[in-house]
Amino acid sequence: MHAKLRIASIALSMMPQLAQGQEPSALEQRGGELLTSNCARCHSVARTGDSPNSAAPPFRTLSRKYPIDSLSEALAEGLSVGHPEMPEFVFDTDEITAILAYLKSIQER
Ligand code: HEC
Repeated sequence: MHAKLRIASIALSMMPQLAQGQEPSALEQRGGELLTSNCARCHSVARTGDSPNSAAPPFRTLSRKYPIDSLSEALAEGLSVGHPEMPEFVFDTDEITAILAYLKSIQER
């Protein structure tokens, strides 16, 4: 009886992680769509694949350079990242939340 209870509670405690590893949340999905429509012509926005513009870093590698959260200001104020090739974008708060959730979900470790 005791052992059964233990197993049940371990299984329960694992469920959030299991859910996370599977389907993307609605938020992540929205972020992915925003990046696909605005950024995918230059950047790889997925977990695999090269960027169409070889100078543009694949989004899954961004966290190697800085924490993903540090992008939120840039996304709100206009992302120009200091190079002429990349157009400037401005996103609203909801869009940024979605974009950051998506970016975090695809980062390589
Ligand atoms: C017209 C092509 C193009 C589009 C569209 C584009 N980018 Fe870029 N982006 C680039 C290039 C090229 C670089 C690399 C520039 C460099 O290293 O100087 C880059 C670099 C970046 C970087 C990395 C900056 C760094 O410090 O390493 C981020 C973050 C970024 N882009 C985000 C975005 C987001 C978000 C979008 C869509 C909203 C987007 N880009 C759309 C071309 C583009």
